[in-house]
Amino acid sequence: MNTPCIDFAPYSQMTDAECHVRIRAAREKLGSKVVILCHHYQRADVYQYADLTGDSLKLARLASQADAEYIVFCGVHFMAEVADIMSTSQQTAILPDLAAGCSMADMANLAKVERCWRELNEVLNAEEQFTPVTYINSAADLKAFCGRHGGIVCTSSNARTIAEWAFGQREKILFFPDQHLGRWTGHTMGIPLEEMLVWDPDLELGGLTPEQIRKARLLLWKGHCSVHQMFQPAHIRKFRSEHPDGLVISHPECSFEVCQLSDYVGSTEHIVKIVKEAPANTRWLVGTELNLVNRLAEEVKPQGKVVQFMAPTVCMCSTMQRIDPQHLAWTLDNLAAGHVVNPIRVPAHELAEAKLALERMLAVS
Ligand code: 13P
Ligand code: SF4
Repeated sequence: MNTPCIDFAPYSQMTDAECHVRIRAAREKLGSKVVILCHHYQRADVYQYADLTGDSLKLARLASQADAEYIVFCGVHFMAEVADIMSTSQQTAILPDLAAGCSMADMANLAKVERCWRELNEVLNAEEQFTPVTYINSAADLKAFCGRHGGIVCTSSNARTIAEWAFGQREKILFFPDQHLGRWTGHTMGIPLEEMLVWDPDLELGGLTPEQIRKARLLLWKGHCSVHQMFQPAHIRKFRSEHPDGLVISHPECSFEVCQLSDYVGSTEHIVKIVKEAPANTRWLVGTELNLVNRLAEEVKPQGKVVQFMAPTVCMCSTMQRIDPQHLAWTLDNLAAGHVVNPIRVPAHELAEAKLALERMLAVS
């Protein structure tokens, strides 16, 4: 007789120590049936169980290569969706807490993007003139939108290469949902700020005139990351005045001004690599999420490197933080008992087109 799924309620009362005992025992039982993927922002008490880690691009590739039956994704919802899209139909992607979303991804939705496309079509032929590019931090139906409109997905580590591809298809790009990544990418390609305009999805015609739309090369969706918006130019200026030899590295989700004032700008994987490979005894100011920065600081301390978080306040990815030992223990205990909890299944009608846009990205980058 089948036993019912194990309820989460008792796990919410468990101490971390109890959860760690359960996680280890369940992993032992499951063996190679399960692989745990962790994003760099994952909290330390969960990150320690990662089989594989990386930025969004690396994790998308790893998910497509994984052969375990269960891919337990310690990250946020869109990442688990990518794992589902890129894995086989015999595999199951699991998100230990379904509330682990991405607030930036939620700033664009299909209804608003389709309305934007309709409005652009009132001004010019959107299908002929715009390549839609979605940042991987977006729901699967937006990736599918890009797939069916000749568009593509990008991540923070390949945005420039993808934008070059997109401009090779059509003369303009509609970029969503992160205006900052889009603007920084356009800037690195030499596009003047006047040709990169913000599309406000809550205003008619995005708040732009038909003339502005005809002249724009890059339309930037009015979206941002609540974590990266905390980093300010003043933080960099203060650091530079105190440590003239110090180096600054930021994620491209930071504002344009922060990116401009940084010595390096790149994805989470890039940030980790640059700081790890830097000469001993260097000092760094890092503009990205706190769990990554704390881990990196510990790892490079033995080489005399000092790594400092950019903001004076604590800013973590509060949604990714929801994947805690309690949810991981509950997920693995259920798997060990033969139950799949929190599977992420992208509907078939979206899956094929979303996969097309993701595969274009992997082929181009
Ligand atoms: P990376 O692809 O650089 O890991 O970034 C993902 C993300 O969500 C950063 O906020
Ligand atoms: Fe989304 Fe920002 Fe969290 Fe990255 S840090 S997953 S963009 S909310």
